[in-house]
Amino acid sequence: MENRKTRKNRGITPVAMVIYDSLSGHTLSMARAIARGLRQEGIKVEVIKTTDVKLDDMVKADAIVLGSPDYFCSMSYKMKALVDESVVLFPGKLKDKVGAVFASGGGIGGGIETTALSMALALLMHQMVIVGHQSGSTGAICPGKPDDACLESCREFGQRIAKITLSLVKPKENIKNAAKSGQRVSAG
Ligand SMILES: Cc1cc2nc3c(=O)[nH]c(=O)nc-3n(C[C@H](O)[C@H](O)[C@H](O)COP(=O)(O)O)c2cc1C
Repeated sequence: MENRKTRKNRGITPVAMVIYDSLSGHTLSMARAIARGLRQEGIKVEVIKTTDVKLDDMVKADAIVLGSPDYFCSMSYKMKALVDESVVLFPGKLKDKVGAVFASGGGIGGGIETTALSMALALLMHQMVIVGHQSGSTGAICPGKPDDACLESCREFGQRIAKITLSLVKPKENIKNAAKSGQRVSAG
């Protein structure tokens, strides 16, 4: 695989934002593990709290990953506030970017999956391309304090998001570069 340096030299290092809310640190650990996986595949990553996010940065990112604690089976109020503020980017400013989600909850059966889904639905409304978790669930979900296995599944999720981001960004770059140099681009 082309290494990070080569990709950077060719001007195609995609950027991902991993946006989280976290009171006791569980969702933050998941955010860091996902960021590790993304970086391992050569993506530039910013891990950032919901309250520090600038909407312009979301527009510049190639991938946006949202993570929240499960608050009564849905995203936390701080994550919801950011989602609602992002209405100024609707419709179209986040269109066709890669989106993914993760959630931490108190335990199995407490609505962690629906929390993940609540964020995925918002990203779908923004016309983003959602990457589901490799297990088949909406996103990465960990009950309680994330253990090593759950953090490993988050890291692998980051790698999966990265691979899909690269597969979408690279052809776009090729088309842009070809257009600049006046070349014709074939579908293959
Ligand atoms: C207001 C509030 C509501 C919560 N509601 C749920 C819930 O419905 N289901 C659940 O499994 N856990 C619930 N929890 C527990 C948190 O989702 C859980 O402790 C989570 O791991 C915290 O993540 P954090 O360390 O990133 O803050 C709730 C916690 C709070 C503070």
